[in-house]
Order: sequence, then C-alpha cells, then structure tokens
Amino acid sequence: MLGRWSQCLRGHSLPQQVDMDYYQNVLGLIGHTPLIKLNRLSKGLKPLVLAKMENLNPGFSVKDRIGVSMVEAAERAGVLKPGGTIVEATSGNTGIGLAIVAAVKGYKCIFVMTDKASVEKSRYLKALGADVVITPVSAKPGTPDHYVSTARRIASETSNSFYPDQYSHPANPEAHYRTTGPELWEQTEGEITHFVSGIGTGGTISGTGRFLKEKNPNIKVIGADPYGSIYKTYKETGKIPETTPYLVEGIGQEVLPANAQLQYVDEVMNISDRDSFEAARQLGRVEGIFCGGSSGTNCAAALRLARDLDENAVVVFVVCDTGEHYLSKFHSDEWMKEKRLLEPQKITAGLLNETKTKGAPRELVTVTPNELVSAALAKMNELGLTQIPVLEDGKSVGSLRENHLLSKVFNERDLLEAPVSKVMDKSFPLVDVDDDVNLVSRKLRSSPAVLIEEYGRITGIITRHDLLDTTR
Ligand SMILES: Cc1ncc(COP(=O)(O)O)c(C=O)c1O
Repeated sequence: MLGRWSQCLRGHSLPQQVDMDYYQNVLGLIGHTPLIKLNRLSKGLKPLVLAKMENLNPGFSVKDRIGVSMVEAAERAGVLKPGGTIVEATSGNTGIGLAIVAAVKGYKCIFVMTDKASVEKSRYLKALGADVVITPVSAKPGTPDHYVSTARRIASETSNSFYPDQYSHPANPEAHYRTTGPELWEQTEGEITHFVSGIGTGGTISGTGRFLKEKNPNIKVIGADPYGSIYKTYKETGKIPETTPYLVEGIGQEVLPANAQLQYVDEVMNISDRDSFEAARQLGRVEGIFCGGSSGTNCAAALRLARDLDENAVVVFVVCDTGEHYLSKFHSDEWMKEKRLLEPQKITAGLLNETKTKGAPRELVTVTPNELVSAALAKMNELGLTQIPVLEDGKSVGSLRENHLLSKVFNERDLLEAPVSKVMDKSFPLVDVDDDVNLVSRKLRSSPAVLIEEYGRITGIITRHDLLDTTR
C-alpha cells in the first residue's frame, strides 16, 4: 500500500501508451516521512540533530502508520467485516489515522476522547465522518467514565464492531518495526546513534527501538516523558508512582500499557510542560517546523541529550503531529498566559540544577551506606567532587564531605576499609524542584549543598559553587 502507482491506460483514445503518476488512495501517502536537520535550535551543539517529520503523514501524525496496520490486521484475522464499526479510545491522532482508513474502506467509526484533547482534534474526526464521545479526563483508569472503559463498553454494545485497543494491539509496535525503524536506518545510512520519542501507548518507541537495536545494539533509545507520568520512575525502579496532571497531549501514562516494551528503551528523560511548549513554539519560529506539544517534548529531550554528545552523534527525534491541532492551545498566547506559561520563568532549584556550569556532572552521583570508604573516596577523587550524598532506597541517609572525611581517615587509616555509614555526616537539607532560588540560597548558608526532591525522589544536588557560578 505504501508507494506510488503508475497506471497504463489501454483502450484510450490517445494512440500511445500513457504513464500517469498517482496514488490508488490516500493511504499510499502514509510513511516515508523525511528527516530535517535542525540548524538554529541546535546552534553550538556538536551532534547532528534531525527531526523525523511524522506531521507530514496524510492525517498529520505518526498515528496514521498504526491506523492502517491495525485495520489491515483485523481484516486479515476476519475480526473486521464489511460495514463494520471501528471503536477506539484515543487522544485524537489514532482516531484520525483510523478514520482515514475507514473513509477509504467504507467502515464507520466511534471514538472516545477525554476533555483534555484539543477541540481541533474532535472537529477533525467529525469532519472525517466519525462520531466522537467525550469523557472527563479526571476519571481514573478502570472506572466506568474512563475513556478506555467507555470505548470498551460502546464496542461491546455495537454490533459488528472492532475495538483495536492501540495500547495492546501487536500491529501498533509492529507498524513501527516494519516502517519507521527501517526508514530511519536507511535515511541515516546506519549512522543514527540516538533515537528520541515520547511514550504514549509505547508503539513508536518499542517498534522503532526494537528494529534499531537489532541493527546496532549500541544505538541509544531515549524516552521523553512529561513530569507527572509514570514512565521515568517505572523504568528506573520498576514501580508505578502516583501520577500528577500535565498539559502535553498524547504522551505519558497512568498505567503501564502492554505495548510499552521498555526493554528497548535505555533511558527516560522528564520534560516539563513549559519546556515542551517552548520547544514546540521555537520549532515553528526558528526552524519552520509547525508541530504539536509532544514533538516539543521530544525536541527538548533531544537538545538536552545533545549537549553532552560529540560531533559523531546523530540524534533523531520524532515530530509526532501538526501544530494545527493546537492552535487554540499552546500555539495561542492567550492560552499560554491563562496557564501561566508565558510569565518570566522564576529561578527554581530545578532550573539551577539544569543550568549548572559545564563540568559539573548532570546526573546525581551518590554512594550507599554499605559502600567502602576507599571506594567512595576514589569516586569523589575521579569526578572532582568535594561532597557526595549517601542514599539508601532513594532516600537521603547521610553525606560525605571531603574535608571531614579526610581528617577522619588521616587519623585512623583503617577507616578506609570501613563502610560509609561509619564515617558519614548528616544528610544535606532537601529542597523541592520548584522551590525558589532564595530558599536554596538560605539553606546553603548552613550546609555546603542541598538535595533536590522531585515527586518524592531525589534527583539533583546544588552546591555553594553551583549557586555562585549560575547567579554571578
Ligand atoms: C501527539 C502524540 N504524540 C505522541 C504519541 C505517542 O505515540 P505512541 O502511542 O506510539 O507511544 C501520541 C499517541 O497518542 C500522540 O497522540
């Protein structure tokens, strides 16, 4: 179905054979999206940063790929029969992908969306001939009003219906394994080193990640996840945390879908709404790439990643959908002001941590209470750290401060072979990621460092040096 078709006209009044160039239908336009190099946004960065333009699919999103693959799988399995109705829970784009196929093949569609989805998406779906049911975003998974439960109920009450369930349908990651992955490999001639994607159902990252890693296991697959979603914590701890609301649409989850196969993902980076929308707006303004908020999430993660990479790196991020879906949302200054996202950014502990002077490790370096003092000292020495937090099960239980530690070890050399717990000082004080710089500064008067807490997890450290360097 992908690709161009040439048609030879026979029996036509024209005497010679005529080759016409056209697609059999709109489905032929799905996939084969180009890569575009970032120029102004990536200025000063060493790697090549490329955008995979999924917004150029006929339904203007990455989800066109799975719309056609889930429908064709259902047809092959005999689950979707002529005249059938497709019912799906969607943040909008999968609905659009399915509605396009349904229009071409003559199926009916009912889509269930939450009231978080932009009005542009539901109008788009209606324009494609679908019925749209809206449920409250506040409904928790498993409750009757949740959009997934509602879609399941409607499917069970509708005769001759097909409920694809993009969260578990194998044709979702499979579409990306078959098309997105091979496209990236060929387009970069195997030179891609990092692939950055948001994680909604997980289809894009799992399918593309699996393909790329089979080609070259050294390729790093990076998930970009809104603060408040489960994926970063789940990847790092195996536990599903409490979720909090965020504004970016289409990515992040409250529960773990079967299609999120995180064994193909090396790392998940948290990105704030503010950074996602800022990056998406900048993509339009300085690169001419008009895209949605999740594309901004991916772009922000790709640029953050690229800061620490060299000129051999080729970083590709997904532009998931078009900015037209969000004209009434983050592409509108009024909406941004209403959400207080256009106000000058206050200097927070989180921002200080992100903008630390070059040379300071970006990832938090810690030791455990059971580690040997000699190993802890070696780590501090190697990384040039004068203090280091002691964490146990993610909680701060103490700290090592070079000057105290050296004088203890100097007086009693046997301590080198003792556990850290024997020599550690008290913990550094905690600040919240959103706490103001003034509070950080006050706490640093009585402690050489403070630890940053984010949704109950310790994620960073700010030292007196960091504060002096960044506020100078
Ligand atoms: C705008 C947008 N971006 C990204 C995604 C995430 O893609 P996936 O479901 O393949 O993880 C979605 C999924 O719904 C989406 O709607």
